[in-house]
Amino acid sequence: MTGVTVVDHPLVRHKLTLMRDRETSTHLFRQLLREISSLLCYEVTRDLPLEAIEIETPIQPMKAERIAGKKLVFAPILRSGMGMLDGMLELAPAARVAHVGLYRDPETLDAVEYYFKAPGDLSDRTVIVIDPMLATGHTAVAAVTRLKAAGAKDIRLVCLLAAPEGVEAMQAAHPDTPIWTAAVDERLNEHGYIIPGLGDAGDRMYGTR
Ligand code: URA
Repeated sequence: MTGVTVVDHPLVRHKLTLMRDRETSTHLFRQLLREISSLLCYEVTRDLPLEAIEIETPIQPMKAERIAGKKLVFAPILRSGMGMLDGMLELAPAARVAHVGLYRDPETLDAVEYYFKAPGDLSDRTVIVIDPMLATGHTAVAAVTRLKAAGAKDIRLVCLLAAPEGVEAMQAAHPDTPIWTAAVDERLNEHGYIIPGLGDAGDRMYGTR
């Protein structure tokens, strides 16, 4: 699949298996999501541009590298995207955060916006949308559309699990937005759940249902 990077590191695969297991507790599920999110963050930021700066080590001056340009923006889609935010911020603690409040209408499965708050200057920042489950893709498509309307140009999507239907929807609506995920599963069921998936990510991380 072009535009999709499956992060299939053994640590990610192992942790994902634990997350899929219905016996995994809420507490462990949240911890694993945070850990995998850090690993996904490592991959999605792999090509960030660097610049050389002069520093002094305790021994001598040297030219060293640091990440160039404006700080990253993480854009979790509420509510389950929040479960991935801390793991991302552990690797990029200076990043800004945009909150995108969208819920999935249970009847139509369409995304409905109820909250949006982002840094003002999105146009020259890399914006990383985070949402654990790319199912129908309606929510991710709506989030990217909203961020583009707010000025974002360089947008990437990170999810834990994707369905082929969600990937297709994203690529049809936003072919300029690459996707990083830990796995692409088989398909969606008639209720819009990813098969085999891991159930409702929000419910599993917050112990609701
Ligand atoms: N959202 C979830 O939390 N799980 C799915 O399987 C699909 C959408």
